[in-house]
Amino acid sequence: MALSLRTALDKNDYFGEKRPLTNRRPFLLCQKPRYFIENLPISIKLSLAGSFRYNIYESDIRDWRMPEGWRTFLNNFVNVGMIGYKFMGKAHSNAYRAVPMFLPDVPKPVMTAICGRDAEAVRAAGEQFGWESVETDWRQLVSREDIDLVDINAPSDAHKEIALAAAAAGKHIFCEKPLALSLADAKEMLAAAEAAGVKHMVGFNYRFAPAVRLAKKLIEEGRLGKIYHFRGLFLQDWIMDPDFPLVWRLQKEIAGSGSLGDLGAHTIDMARYLVGEFDEVIGMTETFIKERPMPTEMTGLTAKGSTEGPRGQVTVDDAAMFMARFQNGALGTFEATRFANGHRSTNSFEINGSLGSVRFDFERMNELEVFFSEDAEDVQGFRRVLATDAAHDYMHAWWPAGHTIGYEHTVTHEVHELMKAIAEDRQPVPNFADGVKCQAVLEAVERSAAEKRWVSLNEFEN
Ligand SMILES: NC(=O)c1ccc[n+]([C@@H]2O[C@H](COP(=O)([O-])OP(=O)(O)OC[C@H]3O[C@@H](n4cnc5c(N)ncnc54)[C@H](O)[C@@H]3O)[C@@H](O)[C@H]2O)c1
Repeated sequence: MALSLRTALDKNDYFGEKRPLTNRRPFLLCQKPRYFIENLPISIKLSLAGSFRYNIYESDIRDWRMPEGWRTFLNNFVNVGMIGYKFMGKAHSNAYRAVPMFLPDVPKPVMTAICGRDAEAVRAAGEQFGWESVETDWRQLVSREDIDLVDINAPSDAHKEIALAAAAAGKHIFCEKPLALSLADAKEMLAAAEAAGVKHMVGFNYRFAPAVRLAKKLIEEGRLGKIYHFRGLFLQDWIMDPDFPLVWRLQKEIAGSGSLGDLGAHTIDMARYLVGEFDEVIGMTETFIKERPMPTEMTGLTAKGSTEGPRGQVTVDDAAMFMARFQNGALGTFEATRFANGHRSTNSFEINGSLGSVRFDFERMNELEVFFSEDAEDVQGFRRVLATDAAHDYMHAWWPAGHTIGYEHTVTHEVHELMKAIAEDRQPVPNFADGVKCQAVLEAVERSAAEKRWVSLNEFEN
């Protein structure tokens, strides 16, 4: 019986069947355009119609050549393979869904495959987040021909190996921060991505808050004058309890460093983005609680463990503070801690320039406090600018003015930049070069704390 493909697909919809989550290796997925399917040779359509499946497999079209014009069309889609499905895996999944709906001027990310080591858990996450297939080994995911972009949301110890494999396979790479366990590893990742000619991005999402973009615009337009000070804080309190278990974020071999690399990395990136490159740093770190119960269950930020059971050594800093001199002469102070009782996640900065100042606190991320010294003396003071107008970066995509956005929107904007960069054949910003520069500052602070001296970033050239 000759069923047209359209009938087959409609019938599939009619019976309410979901697209299958499968470990077979699809060549192209049907969500990559129906147009594509309608133009397939009739024999392939028949075999597809027979199977009532949405997927087109490599074996089905082995002897078939794609017409050149279709390539342009297919460039409107980027097939994503994502590793890790907890905190950031969920945030990235949400962004892949949101970009085509709210910021549709870029290629559509297709949620092709999600990867985790626990087959049952990753299948459940795949279903919940809307991924088309699952893998339980990232090597398998990276080797799939239908993946264009590898998205790494695993802890830092996994970043390098996955990124190098992805670059070798010619895939674009989106990697969470901090880029790597060490500066040497970060440099290796950048070199591999550059040699492979793929696009690479690092997950410094806070740059993408519209209020932060406004601060950047004011600085670039010279409206704050010469920048003198950057004051950055990233304060949390989730491990205050000495019996909170030893999650991966507290183990150096997995996380690289503690509050410094986890929280401080964001503040360092923000300072580089808004003020400029670092010249030298001096810092100190402390581990207040040196032993903790081993976890029986964990994600990066949550865990279960018994106070009766074995305990393990905390091998990272609980808190880090440092001062910095920037290449342009500005001075900076930085504080990153998980022991600031009452601070759930205070991620804030203040910048003072010769003509004005700005203040930002992520817990009130829609607002930027702005001071201009040119204001008449009798009304001088910090004003609260609500960065939700169409005049503010990205806000045209969301709601009417005054309708605020949240954490997840920063990741959506970040994914939009990545898709835009792929379409425009340029590197996205921030990319692995930014990851390397951040990693150099992290390492300089660690060296300074260990050796109790100022450390110049020149010590880390090449
Ligand atoms: N940009 C941000 O705002 C932000 C926030 C939190 C975390 N992060 C970064 O994101 C990354 C992940 O952190 P998280 O909080 O999502 O961690 P998490 O513990 O919540 O999730 C980690 C995920 O990685 C998976 N995983 C670990 N090793 C793996 C391997 N070898 N193969 C396949 N999967 C593996 C785990 O199963 C889990 O799904 C880290 O680099 C972290 O620093 C960034």
